[in-house]
Amino acid sequence: MMEEIKVEKVDKRKARPADGELSFGRTFTDHMFTMEYDENKGWHDPKVVPYQPLELDPAAACCHYGQTTFEGLKAYRSNNGALLFRPEKNAERFNNTNRRMCIPEMDPEFFVQAIKEAVRVDQDWIPAKEGTSLYIRPFILANEVYLGLKPSSHYKFVIIMSPVAAYYPQGIKPTRIYVETEYVRAVRGGTGSAKTGGNYAGSLKAQSSAADKGYDEVLWLDGVEREYVEEVGAMNVFFKIDGKIVTPELGGSVLPGITRDSVITMLEDWDYDVEVRKISIEDIAQAYKDGRLEEAFGTGTAAIISPIGELNYNGLKMEINDFETGEVASKLYKTLTGIQTGKVDDPYNWTEEIPLD
Ligand code: PLP
Ligand code: COI
Repeated sequence: MMEEIKVEKVDKRKARPADGELSFGRTFTDHMFTMEYDENKGWHDPKVVPYQPLELDPAAACCHYGQTTFEGLKAYRSNNGALLFRPEKNAERFNNTNRRMCIPEMDPEFFVQAIKEAVRVDQDWIPAKEGTSLYIRPFILANEVYLGLKPSSHYKFVIIMSPVAAYYPQGIKPTRIYVETEYVRAVRGGTGSAKTGGNYAGSLKAQSSAADKGYDEVLWLDGVEREYVEEVGAMNVFFKIDGKIVTPELGGSVLPGITRDSVITMLEDWDYDVEVRKISIEDIAQAYKDGRLEEAFGTGTAAIISPIGELNYNGLKMEINDFETGEVASKLYKTLTGIQTGKVDDPYNWTEEIPLD
């Protein structure tokens, strides 16, 4: 049995930005959820409190050895209230990540309940304009005060929320991607399949040198042979080749995306041939040269579907679908965002209502 979630509300609410002025992850709501862990009490003291800075001892473990984990999901305004999209999958992935990082797991039902309670308190912050949503960022940091290297004995779990615009205000638009052949994001046996800060810190160098060359993101290759495609930026990646859809298998170094899983289910339902397998960058280049590379796109909670207009592999500039959003990417984006906002039938029971006041 989990403890009841206490609620301490702000005296004065902040001014909310207009729906038309939102960006991604810069504005935060009035409240946040917090909960503590120690070895004697387990997870305890869950509460919703005014949004505020965290107090952190400079010797807290997370400041030194990166024992941190996070999740990302969205609440969408619907006609009747608000919806979450497959939050139990985030709970499951959070526990998998936490196990990998030696952080104590939490009851997955309580994880979802905590999110619903935090969103309920800040329900006025869920934007309504098409394409907008409330981005929810649950995270854990290790805060034992100790410089020895070992799993921490104290943790803090926090949920913050940020009203966000559609990733691309003018609708989805193709991106330019640089195939990274020097740096790698993850290796099998490493932490690539976990959502932990270090993976993202380690990815910044490649991302910034791609940006210097005028590219939006990098396409990551595997860490051993640097031959097989893994992910695009912080998204999973799909290709349409010869009418078939191909996406890399998870294999231990790819983050198991919830959008990825949903996209595979939908495409199979639409009678596409979906191949989940190793796919080499050489095969992609060959398909391009033969005129068989029809589409490529990334999938993730933030952008939902992000079409790829160009892949640069060692100077071979592969323009895909004349730098236009493809048919499959468009249909997926429309259907998925329709389900998430309750505008399109949800045959998979993926959405979950958030009780509002
Ligand atoms: N890959 C990485 C590295 C990510 O950080 C994310 C984002 O969470 C994804 C893929 C996509 O996952 P999801 O669809 O669950 O948002
Ligand atoms: C995603 O939601 O697709 C992400 O990659 C999260 C993020 C902003 C790192």
